[in-house]
Amino acid sequence: MTEKKSSGRGARELRVKVKSARGRKLSSTLWLERQLNDPYVKRAHDEGYRGRAAFKILELDDKFRFLVPGARVVDLGCAPGGWCQVAVKRVNALGEKSGKKIGTILGVDLQQVDPIAGTEIHQLDFMEDDADQKVKDWLGGNADVVMSDMAAASSGHKQTDHLRIMALCEAAAYFAFDVLEPGGTFVAKVLAGGAEGDLQKLLKQKFEKVVHVKPPASRSDSSEKFVVATGFRG
Ligand SMILES: C[S@@+](CC[C@H](N)C(=O)[O-])C[C@H]1O[C@@H](n2cnc3c(N)ncnc32)[C@H](O)[C@@H]1O
Repeated sequence: MTEKKSSGRGARELRVKVKSARGRKLSSTLWLERQLNDPYVKRAHDEGYRGRAAFKILELDDKFRFLVPGARVVDLGCAPGGWCQVAVKRVNALGEKSGKKIGTILGVDLQQVDPIAGTEIHQLDFMEDDADQKVKDWLGGNADVVMSDMAAASSGHKQTDHLRIMALCEAAAYFAFDVLEPGGTFVAKVLAGGAEGDLQKLLKQKFEKVVHVKPPASRSDSSEKFVVATGFRG
């Protein structure tokens, strides 16, 4: 690995260049180089988040303010746990903000997730039969926020990935229609590709406001964006 100075605008920053190594594919070298030069990866490490994804929900919440103290949150596709970590602080799940309401967080993922204080996490395939009923049972009531960062492993085929993620989003949306309190918020990751317009139409019937947003932490070379639907009509 070598470090070289790149002369960008303003301050000169150190850029890490990864030398290709025998046995390592070019794609792996490029991935490693991107990770090492990504300021959000460094911030996640410095601030104790389990991944750079944490900053996406932080930025979305800074804009839309749905993770308020006392909120009951469902986090679909929560591994490794960055969004949960953000939610714990913002909804006051550990009661650290004295005098403020205490929120709850329920996370689910296909993968096992190391425990996070202030959250209840279950391993579950959200697309299996009765998954939504299981989550409803664990929730034991309504939610104020349903958020989904669910994404299947990339197939390498753009349209297939788009359709897969839209199926996950749609399942999350129907679950949200069942559990959200009036006034609640639905946030989900989508990949641009055509079908996101249908989901937007569906959400517009149920929410007062529906927008697509690409937070700064979402890589500019990715077709990922987030649909944020606020003011559930119930
Ligand atoms: C981008 S990661 C989520 C990152 C997470 N928001 C964080 O901050 O750590 C996407 C997650 O969706 C999960 N996922 C994909 N399909 C799923 C499904 N059918 N049911 C549950 N989780 C799923 C994956 O296992 C993966 O952990």
